[in-house]
Amino acid sequence: MNDLMKFKIKESINPENYNQESAVKMLRFLGNLKKNSGQEKVVDFVFKKYGCVKILDSCVGDGSDAIELAKKGYEVTGNEIDKLFLGEAKRNIEREGVNISLTEYDWREFEGHFQNYDAILCLGNSICYLLDSNAQKKAIDNFYICLKKGGVLFIDERNFQYMLDHQEDINKGNFQFSGKYGKAEKKEYLVKPLDISDKSLLIEFSDSKEKYSFRLVFYPFKRNELLGLLREAGFRNIEIYSDYEQSYNSEADFYQYVCVK
Ligand SMILES: C[S@@+](CC[C@H](N)C(=O)[O-])C[C@H]1O[C@@H](n2cnc3c(N)ncnc32)[C@H](O)[C@@H]1O
Repeated sequence: MNDLMKFKIKESINPENYNQESAVKMLRFLGNLKKNSGQEKVVDFVFKKYGCVKILDSCVGDGSDAIELAKKGYEVTGNEIDKLFLGEAKRNIEREGVNISLTEYDWREFEGHFQNYDAILCLGNSICYLLDSNAQKKAIDNFYICLKKGGVLFIDERNFQYMLDHQEDINKGNFQFSGKYGKAEKKEYLVKPLDISDKSLLIEFSDSKEKYSFRLVFYPFKRNELLGLLREAGFRNIEIYSDYEQSYNSEADFYQYVCVK
């Protein structure tokens, strides 16, 4: 990939979400939210069910998910596009003494760099960092290409449709998440949608205990929109989880998709 292409890719990522002062705190925030989510158990269950050993965490963040997997004996590669997160992941991996190789690619340049993976993780509501549908499509197509046949993409998204359906409450500042995932969100970790349109969603995250807040911009996938991109990429067998329970709940906070190639 030439430098101009790389520049274009970086430019098309919403810069608001990168290299902000609170980025590392944001990962700590996410970690706290995830603690009671059931993620770790379900990921391990799915990987065992499909016999996955060679795992690529496509957006490793501070490395916490990858570290837990490596400790369980999985062969893990961690990829991270953001230098700040990458540095944090490196430090945490060294501190924990686990073996994880790190790479630094944009999802849209994965093709040719990763092959025959048993599983790819794209968790933490990450795919919606890409605001443009061509960019999302390219990323998901690349996840498909990098998996072996029978390999699994484990990807999640917030329930944006629920927020779109409650646009008025968001505008009035009355919005409440209703699913189980966000138990923690109702206490000191507050996740508050501030503004939503068909094209973008602005969310404020605040930790009242440690007294910090930050805002991120996401693409709000409509009902079945991400599922459509996954099917278009070629994934046929797709299991849907709502807040890590295997069923569809229109009021969940998050959806997880286990997509088999
Ligand atoms: C909310 S964080 C989630 C991190 C981690 N997966 C977790 O669950 O804690 C979103 C992640 O997506 C990554 N990301 C966003 N756009 C990306 C892209 N185009 N290519 C690779 N990673 C990207 C960010 O750098 C960040 O690590």
